[in-house]
Parts: sequence; structure tokens; C-alpha cells
Amino acid sequence: MTGITQRSADAGKTGVFRSTSIIGTGSYLPERVLTNAELAKMVDTSDEWIVTRTGIKERHIAAKDQATSDLAIEAARRALAQAGVTPQDLDMILVATITPDMFFPSTSCFVQKSLGAVKAACFDLQAACSGFLFALETARQFIGSGSAETILIIGAEKLSCITDWEDRSTCVLFGDGAGAAVLQSRPGMRGVMSCVMGSDGNLSHLLSMPGGGSRNPTSEETIKEHLHYLKMAGKEVFKYAVNSMLHAANQALERSNLTIDQVDCVIPHQANVRIVQAIGARLGAPIEKYYINLSHTGNMSAASIPVALDEAARSGFIHKGDIVLLVAFGGGFTWAASILEW
Ligand code: ACO
Repeated sequence: MTGITQRSADAGKTGVFRSTSIIGTGSYLPERVLTNAELAKMVDTSDEWIVTRTGIKERHIAAKDQATSDLAIEAARRALAQAGVTPQDLDMILVATITPDMFFPSTSCFVQKSLGAVKAACFDLQAACSGFLFALETARQFIGSGSAETILIIGAEKLSCITDWEDRSTCVLFGDGAGAAVLQSRPGMRGVMSCVMGSDGNLSHLLSMPGGGSRNPTSEETIKEHLHYLKMAGKEVFKYAVNSMLHAANQALERSNLTIDQVDCVIPHQANVRIVQAIGARLGAPIEKYYINLSHTGNMSAASIPVALDEAARSGFIHKGDIVLLVAFGGGFTWAASILEW
């Protein structure tokens, strides 16, 4: 018996739940930048409308021959390099995405193949924009219990391939990209202090891609009806996004025995600057504590938080020892928040 199974048995003997730290991050945005001015030539919109209603100025779009795993692999290589960890050290690779390369095999298996991470157990996880935080908590359970030593988690999306470029109410919002983090237990460090996750399937109809699965298998009809594109009831989603993220953030604070004043940096899901402002006003942390990069990325679903985290860390926005709050919301509905010591 080797790998995850053996370690699980060993951890059961000790009964100690270990802390989990992020020891390296990386991100990748495709080269091609699509500006609001270009979008205004494609649909009936304007730079002024998009900036005022969302805060987005431009987004990155993957090349035709770039799949989600290609973006994920670039981010992963950067995170591994920063962590000083080799692919052969990885016990597990977890990819959070709503735009996998294929239904199966998992995108994480493609990442494994390219990296040569021979001993890693690989699977994908789907919680829309909350996916990266769901992956973080899943990985924390494996490391905490002693079932794994080193885990690579990735949030990666090629949303441009499920975007209806004729629908102005959604096509201005999304972008492509990937962010990754390497996790290990570091004795003496608090690392991830708390994690909360939640879901409400009653609201699934407000944000979905209805076509292509077993409910509406691909047919001439589903293509004609644009069912292979992301559909969103923006106004309703906005309201739930604010309430769910506030709820999750407060729960995570409570579980960490912290108040918002003790938080140095907030990294929210990057969907809309007005959502971030609404959360800021109600949570109580000054807006200067929020890392906001959506003006140049758009909403990248599961990739939004890890890309923002990597940018914040590399640019010096967050420092060693800082208390960081990550909070997300997405289709499902799903929501999650994590508090960690950087
Ligand atoms: N350009 C110009 N006008 C537009 C555009 C556009 N791109 N899109 C919509 N409009 C028009 C509408 O047609 C409407 O016109 P009308 O008043 O004549 O009917 C008007 O603008 C207002 O539209 P609303 O939808 O009410 O605009 P709103 O202020 O709600 O902003 C938005 C829309 C940006 C989508 C907002 O609701 C939002 O951000 N929602 C949340 C999205 C989100 O958080 N998603 C997260 C999860 S994503 C995931 O999980 C993959």
C-alpha cells in the first residue's frame, strides 16, 4: 500500500490535524487582450457602460489552440518554481474549473501528464466561481489528516468558449486565465485558519450552461437555442452574491476568532467592482484593504481568486504574517470563505 491510502492509515494512528500553508503561487493570463472598445464593435455596448456597471476595462482571451489545461500548466509551473517543489513531489493535483478540456478525462490528468507528476492522484472539482476555495478546503482536509504532504490546487478557465458573443448582457463580463497554489503543512505556522463552504441548488437556474450534459445532450436544437453558452440572471445573481459572500466572510471570521479589523487584506471573487464595494461597505473593512484586479481580467470564475492572490503576493500587496480573507460566490449557487496567515 503506497501514496494517499497508506498515509491515511498512518494519520488515523496519530489523530493530530495539521495546519496547511500556501508555500507558492503562480498565475497565467493569455497574451490576447480584448478591450471594451473592441467589444463595442461586436455588440451594442460601450466602454462607459461596462466600466460604470462592472469596473472591467479589458480581459484576456485564450488562443484557439489553448485549452484550459494549457493555462493551468503555465500557472502550475510558476507556483511550483516559487514553492521550490518538483512535480514528482506532488501527492495530488486538484483543478477547479467549469470549462474542462473535455468531459473526461479530468483536466487535472492533462496537467499531471504535462508536468510529469507521476505519483499525484488527480481529479477536478466544480463549484463555479467558488471552485478554488472549495479546492483549498478539500486539500486542507487531506494535508490536515496526514493523507497527503504536498498538493497542487489550480483554478483555471477558458470562459471565452462558453461565452455567447452575441449576448451583450454576459459577453462583456468574462475572461480567461489560471492561478495555482502549492500547499504543504509548515509546523509553527497557522496557514489556513478557517474555511467555510455552502451551496443552494434551489437557485441553480439563475446561472448555468444548460446544454451539452445529460439533461440536454448536444443536438441541432441545443445549438440553435444557444444552450451551450453561459446564461445568467445578472440582477438576481448580484443580490445573492453580496449576501452570500458577507455571510461566508462573517462565518469564517467567527471560526478564526478574528474581527474584520484584524484582517490585513481581502481578496474577493472578481465579478463586479460594485459587488466588492457593497461587501466592503457592509463588512466594515476599508476598500484599500481589498485587492481588486478585475479591471484587467474580467470575471475568470474559478481562476479569479488564485490569480488575484498571486498578483497580490508578488506585488507586495500582502506580506508575510498578514491575515488574508478570501471570499467567493458562484453558480450552483455556491459560496466560500477562507482566512489564512500569509
Ligand atoms: N451594454 C449596454 N447595455 C447593457 C449591457 C451592455 N453590455 N448589458 C445590459 N445592458 C442593458 C440592459 O439591457 C438594461 O437595459 P434596459 O434598462 O433598457 O432593459 C440595462 O442595461 C440594465 O441592465 P441590468 O441587467 O439591470 O444591469 P445591471 O446594473 O444589473 O448590471 C450586471 C448587469 C453587470 C450583469 C450585474 O447584474 C452583475 O454584475 N451581476 C452579477 C454577476 C456575478 O456576480 N456573477 C458571479 C458569478 S459568475 C459565475 O459563477 C460563472
